[in-house]
Amino acid sequence: MTRNLLDVDELDPARLTRILDRAALGRSDPHAVPQVLAGLGVAAVFEKPSARTRTSFEMAVVELGGHPVILHADEVQMGKRESVADVARTLACYCAVIAARVFDHENLVAMTAAVDVPIVNLLSDRAHPLQALADLLTLRDHLGGLEGRRVAFIGDGNNVAASLAYGAALCGLELVVASPHGYELPDAVIDHARNLGGTVEQLTDPYDAVRGADALYTDVWTSMGQEDERAARNAMFAAYTVDDALLAAANPGACFLHCLPAHRGEEVSASVIDGPASLVWPQAANRLHAARALLADLFEEA
Ligand code: CP
Ligand code: NVA
Repeated sequence: MTRNLLDVDELDPARLTRILDRAALGRSDPHAVPQVLAGLGVAAVFEKPSARTRTSFEMAVVELGGHPVILHADEVQMGKRESVADVARTLACYCAVIAARVFDHENLVAMTAAVDVPIVNLLSDRAHPLQALADLLTLRDHLGGLEGRRVAFIGDGNNVAASLAYGAALCGLELVVASPHGYELPDAVIDHARNLGGTVEQLTDPYDAVRGADALYTDVWTSMGQEDERAARNAMFAAYTVDDALLAAANPGACFLHCLPAHRGEEVSASVIDGPASLVWPQAANRLHAARALLADLFEEA
């Protein structure tokens, strides 16, 4: 069993369910989760900005008795000041876990090859697994279960969508993605999600995608690192705003999720994200519970 979490596909259905159950338990009683990090350091390297991931992960480490060491890109300069492998080897001298938010997913892979301590992905160009854990927890709370339910992801087939696809596949949650041509979920991700047992569809029309959906999910049209493409993306995604009309075309009572940060008036209308269907604040709060549960699981299974 892997002690890393580079993406959700490294989990199996039983382990994913155990993590979600533990996240829910820790939410109602944080003391129910053992202090598996007592006396241990946890390094978290950020090559990109973060509000939710940094804060929730740091608090999760503290609640598990550990000491978080937060490092920013300019301090570490992975691959510039020294190799990615040497950064990982250095941090592993002092810390029991290395977590990182990186531009290049391959740098996380390089870390796993260099050291034995668990490597946790705090977002890469390809994946955002801790986000997916919180998303699944939020959906499970709201829908009362995940098996056979349907979520429509509207917009860019990006890192958040890819990790959600794997998580959905492992939980029996159906996923349909609607994206403009050229911005779909990669074929390799769709194939892999299907190999994991998932039902995942890629469409173009957002109205086709939301028909029969119990939840609508969107993310920014321009992810961190793609800022030069912003104007072109705004034009391509103009018809993909999750607004009241799109929400009304989903199942009655459908909820709305967004990993945040959000841009009101772009990928989502203010009326939807600030309206009664929105679960974005419970979803953000669940980031802490998901991170705590994941860290506890990595250590209990060691
Ligand atoms: N959703 C999320 O990862 O938010 P941050 O980029 O603020 O960490
Ligand atoms: N897809 C976004 C998610 C931010 C949490 C990005 O990578 O910037």
